[in-house]
Amino acid sequence: PKVFYTQPDGVERVIDGTVGDSVMSTAVQNGVNGIVGQCGGALSCATCHVYLDPTEMKLFDDPSEDEDDMLECTASDREDNSRLSCQLVLSEGTDLHVTIPDEQA
Ligand code: FES
Repeated sequence: PKVFYTQPDGVERVIDGTVGDSVMSTAVQNGVNGIVGQCGGALSCATCHVYLDPTEMKLFDDPSEDEDDMLECTASDREDNSRLSCQLVLSEGTDLHVTIPDEQA
């Protein structure tokens, strides 16, 4: 599956990801700007904040309570389509589009 990242500088990066990897780890492994992922996906940093394409929100379960709590701690404003990208796991045949906020910490 492909992940389309719009970086904070406005440049789009398209990465061919691996099923089972997260949107966060895919970004970190490929040098996408703006996703930090400081805690490595343990839901304790909120530096992997992204805005998910609103039409793709339904592809995922609602945020868990822990994710929801951490989303209150994001450096850039939380929006309706805010997610922590370490919780967005790639699945077969599903391309994703995310916009990376300006600030993560
Ligand atoms: Fe820390 Fe996602 S990488 S919460």
